[in-house]
Amino acid sequence: MEKTSSLQFVPAKTGSIRAGEMFTSRLGVLTATLGSAVGLGNIWRFPYLTGSNGGAAFLIVYLICTLLVGIQIMVGEQMLGRAGQGNAIAALRRLAPGKAWWLFGAAGVLSAFLIMGFYSEVAGWVFAYIIKSISGTILSTDPQVTTTAFTSLIADPMKSLFLQWIVLAVTGAILLLGVAKGIERTTKTLMPVLLALLVMVGIRSLTLPGAMQGLTFLFKPDFSAITPATFLTALGLSFFKLSVGMGCMLTYGSYFRADQNIPVTATRVTLADLMVSLLAGIAIFPAVFAFGFKPESGPSLLFITIPAVFASMPLGNIFMVLFFVLTAIASIGAMLSLLEVIVTFFNQQLGLNRKLSVVLTAAGLAIFGSAAALSNSTLANVKLFGLTFFDLYDYLSSNVLMPLGGLLLAIFVGWVWGYPNIRKALSNDETLKNDRIIAVFYGLIKFVTPALIVIVFLNQLHLL
Ligand code: TRP
Repeated sequence: MEKTSSLQFVPAKTGSIRAGEMFTSRLGVLTATLGSAVGLGNIWRFPYLTGSNGGAAFLIVYLICTLLVGIQIMVGEQMLGRAGQGNAIAALRRLAPGKAWWLFGAAGVLSAFLIMGFYSEVAGWVFAYIIKSISGTILSTDPQVTTTAFTSLIADPMKSLFLQWIVLAVTGAILLLGVAKGIERTTKTLMPVLLALLVMVGIRSLTLPGAMQGLTFLFKPDFSAITPATFLTALGLSFFKLSVGMGCMLTYGSYFRADQNIPVTATRVTLADLMVSLLAGIAIFPAVFAFGFKPESGPSLLFITIPAVFASMPLGNIFMVLFFVLTAIASIGAMLSLLEVIVTFFNQQLGLNRKLSVVLTAAGLAIFGSAAALSNSTLANVKLFGLTFFDLYDYLSSNVLMPLGGLLLAIFVGWVWGYPNIRKALSNDETLKNDRIIAVFYGLIKFVTPALIVIVFLNQLHLL
């Protein structure tokens, strides 16, 4: 069994170019990685996508995608990051010199911009809801009141921009502290608190009258709801929730110590991430039904339903403040990893120092993200391919770039890097006895993972 001592410090391999930038403990690796995985994807997106795609049936498709694709790519990314000692561009250049595989990393930097463009805005709404829940303006069981509060917030251009910039400033400030003191310490402190609060909200939701209907919806599959599009949505969600397909986990992998057991870490993180998603679903769906909302009410589920849930419970005002504080915290753990991808680009590719890289990243995102921030107000009618910037950033990252990135990564690992390298990397140079796990991983990432991604894609293009 692996020990999870948080005090132990194993220095980076001598001669490693990045000796100063490492996670310092196994527990820290786990919380930082989990902090990246758990975020708005779990608390905001997973519930509404499950709600609008048939509940339990969607959940099953999602599980298949996670098992056969998501987790495999997470292992692959962390492995390459540690072996290549650098962000996705640097690592792939080192592992495949003279080849174009580093383009995976370049696409990843673009994805990071796209995801953060809209993610920082949603996080901004969460920040605003902390204030609103303190002042009590959203403490109402009346859906109309909570709906109006939300729609008027997102339709205000100045507030939207301001909120996004606050979010970027907070995240940037943490990153200025560095990998161990910033990312690792922050996530280590905050992840357990988030979990505890989710459990509490879940219990409250389950004990509402009419809660059973919500559970039935979440756990009793109706397969007629599954269409080819469901698969692409579930696959996209799997990439998004596990932070894979764009070099984020690869970058974190480069901070892993040589003795970190990667398959075990990735499995734990995936399971914990799934648990958090289910908890979020359990916290939300029973309440959705209890208050007569429709489960398919879309992205606004979190901002309209949750206030109503809290409004109906004793001490709800206090719990609501805590809940939004913790959702904000969850989003921060995720954003740290997204920003880190861009920061390491400036730092490792362009040779800028870390401080300047962080500042440039935040500033760049403030500009790029503003188009998404204004998508419900000033730019509401500006559309590309029929989508607002907010939706376009989202669609391009989750449904195009990340699945393509995942496909490239799987092909690279299974067909180019090959079994001997994989074996050496995942067994920590033969110190772990995990031959079978490595064999299963190899089989999946070489054949199953890429095949599934291709099938889902072709299907979406109506070529199958
Ligand atoms: N996984 C995070 C969430 O669920 C979001 C996230 C962080 C992410 N890093 C990522 C998504 C990298 C895609 C790629 O909220």
